[in-house]
Amino acid sequence: MFSRSVSAARSGLLSRGFASSARANRKVAVLGAAGGIGQPMSLLLKQDPLVTGLSLYDIRGAPGVAADISHVNTHSDVKGYEAADAASALKGAELVIIPAGVPRKPGMTRDDLFNTNASIVRDLAVACAEHCPKAMICIISNPVNSTVPIWAEVYKQKGVFDEKRLFGVTTLDVVRASRFLGEIKNTDPKDVKVTVVGGHSGVTIVPLLSQTAQGKDVKGQQYKDLVKRIQFGGDEVVQAKAGTGSATLSMGYAGARFANSLIRAMNGESGVVEPTFVKSPLYKDQGVEYFASNVELGPEGVTKIHPVGSVSAEEEELIKACLPELKKNIEKGKAFVKA
Ligand code: NAI
Repeated sequence: MFSRSVSAARSGLLSRGFASSARANRKVAVLGAAGGIGQPMSLLLKQDPLVTGLSLYDIRGAPGVAADISHVNTHSDVKGYEAADAASALKGAELVIIPAGVPRKPGMTRDDLFNTNASIVRDLAVACAEHCPKAMICIISNPVNSTVPIWAEVYKQKGVFDEKRLFGVTTLDVVRASRFLGEIKNTDPKDVKVTVVGGHSGVTIVPLLSQTAQGKDVKGQQYKDLVKRIQFGGDEVVQAKAGTGSATLSMGYAGARFANSLIRAMNGESGVVEPTFVKSPLYKDQGVEYFASNVELGPEGVTKIHPVGSVSAEEEELIKACLPELKKNIEKGKAFVKA
């Protein structure tokens, strides 16, 4: 009995594994691969059986990181590339994840990173437009609310923009919401799914706790504290790291999780839904062109943008506070490229 069920499970696994590897060559490029996020995320991507090739690119240190990770005994090939090798790094990439850029120090907002990271992201967008224009693009570099519009504007100028293939990675907000609510409820976070909408900074991060079984009865001061912790959870890490960086390990985990969801959807799995920051019709009438909400992913990227759904009076207020800030961040990104 035991051996039958094991072998059945095994043959199921094997046939699924064979089907996806036979179907799909999934080369993933990580830009900023030698950084605090880039390294652990690349390691997790090396452990993902759906990733068939890893291309690690950075202005410094990527060949060393690639040599190290390449010894992990999974089937994907790993190569490292230096600054001058962007073309080779990007050739054939089907998915590009971008954690390149400087992180926050205590007292900084994500918007304070704009001056440095905007030009890094713009230049990487130019390179991707030239060398892998059809790849799915997942942007981690902050401020995400502005770097995603920057990427889009560069792609429009280059004539290769496809809004279905551009994602701002907000998964860390979802991961934090699940963990923090799980803590309060003393529940395994894997069973706690919180949709987080809006953007990825401070008040633009809007957790929809009323839509979860565990979160809907969190009220009063506990509700306020939980929302604040989800919105400003990144500050806990920035302060604890005391000037040496921001979230890297949890972000590496979140980035690899988002990549896995996207690849599963690219490989034909249906019903893969993740909150992510995309070009969105939801608040377009209020001048907000990009918005994170639940997005169904598919072989061509965005398949369906889910509406925000029914929200509590408190969440209505949170969305009201989010929209003007988000609009400002988006416009700043667009203006940067136009200038
Ligand atoms: P880090 O400084 O440790 O690593 C950044 C890496 O980017 C470095 O290795 C650097 O050499 C590389 N880099 C810089 N310019 C580059 C270029 N033009 N091309 C290729 N590589 C380049 O920083 P960390 O901690 O990895 O953070 C990276 C970014 O991710 C920051 O902007 C940070 O704010 C953001 N972040 C985003 C989160 C999110 O939820 N979306 C969460 C946490 C951080």
